[in-house]
Parts: sequence; C-alpha cells; structure tokens
Amino acid sequence: MNNNPLHTHAEPIRLSGSKANTNLEWDSEGFMLAGRGPKSCTMKVEGGRDTSQEWQHKQDKALAEYQGSHILEQITATTHSIYKLFGAYIGATLHGPNEKLQPNVLDVGCGIGQRLPMYMRKLIDGVNYFGMDAFDINSDRDYPFICARLEDLSEIVAFHNKFDVFVFGTSLDHFENIDEVARAVKKIAAPGAVVIFWIGLHDTSLVASEEGANALRRTFNGARPLVVMWRLLRFAFWNFPRIFYALERRRVKLKRGENLDNLHFWYFTEKDLPSVLARFGEITDISMVPGSNSVFATCRVPADGQQ
Ligand SMILES: C[S@@+](CC[C@H](N)C(=O)[O-])C[C@H]1O[C@@H](n2cnc3c(N)ncnc32)[C@H](O)[C@@H]1O
Repeated sequence: MNNNPLHTHAEPIRLSGSKANTNLEWDSEGFMLAGRGPKSCTMKVEGGRDTSQEWQHKQDKALAEYQGSHILEQITATTHSIYKLFGAYIGATLHGPNEKLQPNVLDVGCGIGQRLPMYMRKLIDGVNYFGMDAFDINSDRDYPFICARLEDLSEIVAFHNKFDVFVFGTSLDHFENIDEVARAVKKIAAPGAVVIFWIGLHDTSLVASEEGANALRRTFNGARPLVVMWRLLRFAFWNFPRIFYALERRRVKLKRGENLDNLHFWYFTEKDLPSVLARFGEITDISMVPGSNSVFATCRVPADGQQ
C-alpha cells in the first residue's frame, strides 16, 4: 500500500462482463462486452468509421509476421532484450512525483497474442492495464482487451479524460494519420497523462551500426586470430558491398518519401522524431537504445485548454 500523500488515485475504469456469458453482447454505449476466462474481459467497439484500403492492406500483410512474433513469440535475442528494456523504461516512467496509484494504462496496438505483451509482464500488478488492438484475433486473452481502432475508441464519450498512461510499442508507424492519433489520445487522456513510445528509426547510420555490431560479434565469436582475419576480409569484400548497396537503396527511398516495405505508413528518423512526438505534448525524454535503431520516448499530454 502506497501512502505517499503526493500520489493521487487514478479514476478506475472497469470493463464489466459476465463471466458466465461467453457470447458478445451489445452494451448501451454502443460497444460489445464479453466476459470469458477468469482474467480476460474483452470489449469490442463496433461500427467505427470506414478504414482506408491502404491501412487494411498493410494490416493484412503484417498479420503473418504478428502470428510468429506475438502469438508464438518467435523473436530474436536482441528484440527480446529490447522488450525487457522497454518494460523497465515504462516502469521508471510510471514512478515520479506526480505518479498516480493504479493508473489506467492503454496499450495502443498491443498486438494479437493471448498473453500480455512482454514489456508489461513485470508491471501488471501496479496498474490498471488495457490492451487495445484493431485485430479481432484471440479475443479471450489473459488481460482486459479492447478490440478497436484508437480513432473509434476516442469517439466514445465514456472514455474521455480517462487514461493516465498510453503505450505505443512499435505501433505508431502503423497508424495512417499521426495528427488524428494525437487528437484521439488527447481526448481520452486524463489530466497529467503521459505517452510512452518505442519507435524504430530508419537513419542509415543507425541501421548500419546495428548491422555492423552483429557482424563484428560474429567475426570475433570464439575464433583464433587467423580465422578472425579471414572473416574480416570476407566481410570487407563480400558482405560490406552488399550491406552498402542495400542501405544506399533505403537511403534514396527514404529521401524520396517512398515506402521501405508494405507494413508501415511511416519511417521515422532522428531528425523528424521531435516534430512527430511534439504533436502529443511536451517531450520529456528521448533515449536511444544502445546497439539498436530503437528509441524510447515520453511526452506529457497538455492539460485541457493548453492544446
Ligand atoms: C507492430 S504491432 C505492435 C505490437 C506490440 N505493441 C508489440 O510491441 O509487440 C502494431 C499493432 O498496431 C495495431 N494497430 C495498427 N493500427 C491501429 C489502429 N488504428 N488502432 C489500433 N491498433 C492499431 C496493429 O493491429 C498491430 O497489432
């Protein structure tokens, strides 16, 4: 129990649903409720605005990847470490002089896995967590789940001024219109709310440094000096030209504003990150994740009237 007088209580949000009832039901607010397992409680927002064909196309293309990474949790050791670091970053951001007890956390684009996203697993006891995702997949989850697009959720008056913390874990670049996302966040943000991001950056130097670090690790991995020399030469004359060509193609595409893949809408860089984040409020932190092209960042949403 935290008795610190500086810490205020968040206004609790509860998704109510009958545990006995496994059928989705219409609620008076216009969304559907379902209570299933002992931990899960799913709410589905129906009848939102039409989505663009491009957004739907990118979602369809990404699904196969999410099935591997979110459901089967087949991820690289580096990504696994970043998940854990992101959890620690969220935990550190939640604690501070203005912290709320049991804050309402909305994980925007939490993914399709039945288990809690890895970054939340050590934090769940101190927070009132809600995963939210547009995909209607695995609705019987181990945590309260809101199946909706953020843009539609923010239209529901019952959610206005409610969430103390927003988490965007590699999801912001999957949204079509960042200004619309920022407006939606501000509508449903409680006073003093913070927005916490994990974003992949696409600067050639950052992508190259990750590639280079991995290559050097493989080169020196337990080998004798002669083998290391041989690997270095092979890297210099075989791998390096290929990496250079691939990165140069990325750089040119980025400069021309072309897509680098068919999954994302945005490919943020170090230079444009501050202007993107500032749409959500005052930027209070930007931290590069060492040895990667990932960045963690936090913004404080302005109080009503200061937007
Ligand atoms: C890369 S995944 C991130 C999953 C999870 N946060 C993680 O880090 O493992 C991006 C997620 O954003 C969701 N998403 C994309 N557009 C959305 C929208 N308009 N509203 C809600 N979720 C959305 C996608 O369905 C997808 O599951």
